Amino acid sequence: MSDLSVPSELRTFFENSPVALALGDPGGDNHLIMMNGRFADLTGFSQKDLAGQNCRILQGPAEDHEARAKLRAFLRNDTAANVRTPILNFRKDGSPFVNLLYMSRLRALSGETRFIFASQFDVSRAQPDKLRAYDDDLGRTLTRLSPVAAESGIIVEGTLTTIANSATTIAQAKLTLASLDDSSIL
Ligand SMILES: Cc1cc2nc3c(=O)[nH]c(=O)nc-3n(C[C@H](O)[C@H](O)[C@H](O)COP(=O)(O)O)c2cc1C
Repeated sequence: MSDLSVPSELRTFFENSPVALALGDPGGDNHLIMMNGRFADLTGFSQKDLAGQNCRILQGPAEDHEARAKLRAFLRNDTAANVRTPILNFRKDGSPFVNLLYMSRLRALSGETRFIFASQFDVSRAQPDKLRAYDDDLGRTLTRLSPVAAESGIIVEGTLTTIANSATTIAQAKLTLASLDDSSIL
């Protein structure tokens, strides 16, 4: 059985990160193992609400087939380094947002995937400079995570591909939210 206990230095690092972060099980139904306070601020869901459950709960009644298929393809292919996609999500209070989701892998020295690493950002209420600041924060988080994870024999995989066309990404996310008003989803 794989080891799903999160080393304490990783927990501390996660809690101190300025961005929303989650760790998931690379096997089974990819349930969530831990989420930080920023994740709770963003989604309204606490560690208690979601630990042990699959994060697709955030998708509510949305049928974002394309984004979901991309995430599934990443999770099924252990050689895929990372994935980044906007996906329609709902907070605990039911309010929608477009989540710019990044996922990569944390591996043991043996090469086996220990955890799925994820970070979330509300791209539908952002401005381009806010998205760029988030990209910087997430990039720094990944860089700083490497030596911390190495202490526990964990390798951080997947370098961040920053969003080049941030204005377009944001405009599309806002359109997604606007189109919800006309649909029967809400
Ligand atoms: C650690 C982790 C965090 C995730 N975070 C989110 C998230 O914030 N929002 C979301 O819609 N899906 C998230 N997912 C993806 C879903 O849990 C699920 O893998 C995805 O919907 C594709 O699988 P499915 O088609 O079986 O639902 C996350 C997955 C993992 C492993």
